[in-house]
Amino acid sequence: MRISGIGSAVPRQIVTNEMLSSFLDTSDEWITTRTGIKQRRVITEEKFEQLAVEAARKAIADAGLTPDSIELIVCSTTTSPFITPSLACIVRESLQIPSPAMDLNGACAGFLYALDAADAYIKSKKAKTILLISADNMSRIVDWTDRRTCVLFGDAAAAVVLTDAGDDFRAILLRTEDNGTCLLAKNSSGNSPFIKEKTEPIALQMEGQKVFKHAVASAQADISKVLKLAGIAKEKINHFLLHQANIRIIDFIRKTLGLPENKFNHNIERYGNTSSASIPLLMDELYHAGQLRRGDMLLLNAFGAGFVSGACVLEWNK
Ligand code: ACO
Repeated sequence: MRISGIGSAVPRQIVTNEMLSSFLDTSDEWITTRTGIKQRRVITEEKFEQLAVEAARKAIADAGLTPDSIELIVCSTTTSPFITPSLACIVRESLQIPSPAMDLNGACAGFLYALDAADAYIKSKKAKTILLISADNMSRIVDWTDRRTCVLFGDAAAAVVLTDAGDDFRAILLRTEDNGTCLLAKNSSGNSPFIKEKTEPIALQMEGQKVFKHAVASAQADISKVLKLAGIAKEKINHFLLHQANIRIIDFIRKTLGLPENKFNHNIERYGNTSSASIPLLMDELYHAGQLRRGDMLLLNAFGAGFVSGACVLEWNK
């Protein structure tokens, strides 16, 4: 499998830490020192699905392809405003892509879960050209009166086109562990007359410190395992693209690996945690900034609610 095209789209509205402190008991100083986030993009007038479509259109054009050459659409999201149709179906219709389309819930590790699924399709020759979109609208599921969660997230969409033009993925691994009540968001129970106890929707709830510890532990374990699977030394990795959840988590991982700062790219300061879009959004920025060279080795690692996590090693050959 090869990444043959990439694109992303973010909302126009920038929300700075100062803007948040005008309606929340928080400060730029607290958010910056605890998380590394300075601002995030938040949907206002745009429609979430338009961001997903725009990212997909850019990725297809970047691959030098047309929509009719896509054989499968996989979309990782947990926050689409539509329960049905899937976000993948909406993108399909909008871009007139004549392929099957499905959504996948891998929370913040959704990009890794979708890559693994795409890899299986390509290896089994069920598809040669796959559009993978990772898009999340976290601003819709957080409680904007809860300073412990809403300051952390932003909205974004990013997409890649995966083809069988090369054998660039050296290893992909996925892991799932018990989540307990550490990280959850709930739909309402609906108005079925057969349910006695009605429940209201619950905005995203998170036990920050437990999630922090889990994130660090899973990242350390996944990175060490994926390096072994790929048969490559950590020093040979040119770029570590870690889930952009907290700069302290990224720094901690970097220090335990004993590697230089310039290998750990980040854009959390500008976008916050964009859930499953976080890694491909960063990858797209690096690519367009000319920082990814053919032959560079990349290590991707993400964790999220579930608890799910995943990692992969790939050679960049776009
Ligand atoms: N502004 C000011 N004060 C705040 C804020 C805020 N935005 N948020 C919390 N505080 C306060 C708390 O109320 C608490 O005050 P108290 O001591 O008076 O009770 C104090 O700051 C310390 O709170 P902690 O939760 O202990 O702060 P911590 O240093 O752990 O930082 C954070 C919190 C940033 C959430 C951290 O735990 C973290 O990053 N955890 C991992 C989160 C993560 O990665 N989530 C994403 C994973 S999955 C997914 O993406 C859906």
